[in-house]
Amino acid sequence: MSYDATAKPARTDALVRFAHLYEAYLQAEIDMTLSPEESMGNEWYAGVGESGAKAVTLACMSSWLSDVRTVLDMPCGHGRVLRHLVKLFPGAVFDACDIDKPGIEFCASQFGATPILSKARPEDVAFPRKYDVIWIGSLFTHTTQDLTLRWIRQLASHLTEAGIIVATFHGRFSALNGEAFGYIEPPIWRKIVKGYERGGYGYQNYSQPAHDGNVPGDYGISLSKASHILALIEQMKDLRIFNYIERGWAGHHDVLVIGKPQVGV
Ligand SMILES: C[S@@+](CC[C@H](N)C(=O)[O-])C[C@H]1O[C@@H](n2cnc3c(N)ncnc32)[C@H](O)[C@@H]1O
Repeated sequence: MSYDATAKPARTDALVRFAHLYEAYLQAEIDMTLSPEESMGNEWYAGVGESGAKAVTLACMSSWLSDVRTVLDMPCGHGRVLRHLVKLFPGAVFDACDIDKPGIEFCASQFGATPILSKARPEDVAFPRKYDVIWIGSLFTHTTQDLTLRWIRQLASHLTEAGIIVATFHGRFSALNGEAFGYIEPPIWRKIVKGYERGGYGYQNYSQPAHDGNVPGDYGISLSKASHILALIEQMKDLRIFNYIERGWAGHHDVLVIGKPQVGV
C-alpha cells in the first residue's frame, strides 16, 4: 500500500475550532462552588483545574478529533477539572465517574454530569456511551502498572472513532521532587523510586488510607518513565500515541494522549 499524504484529513478547521473553544472558555465564568467534601482543596485548586482544560485543548489539537460531543471525567473527584471542561465544551454531554459517591453526586448536581459509580475492577464498570474525550486526571498516579493497563484497555473500548484518552502520570519531575512533596513516607518512596529506576514503573500501596481512603484494593503512589509508558502503549495495536508532555498538567504531572484511529488507518 502506498502512502498518500493528501488523503489525510486537513486539521486546519479543527485547530481553529479548538482555539475558538479555548478562547471562549477563557472568557467564561467558572462555577467555583466547592463540594463540602472536596479533599483536593488548596491554594492551587483553581489553577490546577484551568491547567486541565488547557491540557485537554492541546490533546484535542494533537488528535484527529474535529468536535467533542461526549466527555468522561474519570476519576472526577469533586469536579476540580470538570467545572472547567463543561465551559470548554458547552455543547457536550458529560459523564462523571469515581468510586467516591459524594463526588459523583456533587458533579451531577452542580455541573450537570451523569454520575457513574466506579468499581475496583475496571472490567466491572459499565459506561453508557462512547467518548470523544476521556480525561484521567490523577488515577494512574495511584495505581499499579497492571491496573493502569486494565483501565486503559477498558476505557479505550469506549472511545468514538477519533476519541482520545488524556491521562496523567508521575514522571521525571515527580521522581526528582516526590520526596520533598511528601507523596508518601520516605522509606516507601525510596522503594517506588527503585522500581521506577529498575523497571520503568514503581508502585507501592499507601500505608494508611489517604484522603480518598474509600478505595478498595491496591491504592498508593506510582512513578513511571515516559519511555516505559510509551513502550506499553506501543503494544496496544488499536491505539496510537498522539502526544506526551512532561509536566503538562499544572507543571507537575506528565500528560499522555492516546487514542483512535489506530496508527495504520
Ligand atoms: C487524586 S484524586 C483526583 C480526583 C480528580 N481527578 C481531581 O483532579 O481532583 C484520585 C481520585 O481517584 C479516585 N479513584 C480511586 N480508585 C478509583 C476507581 N477504581 N475508580 C474510579 N475512581 C477511583 C478517588 O476516589 C479520587 O477521587
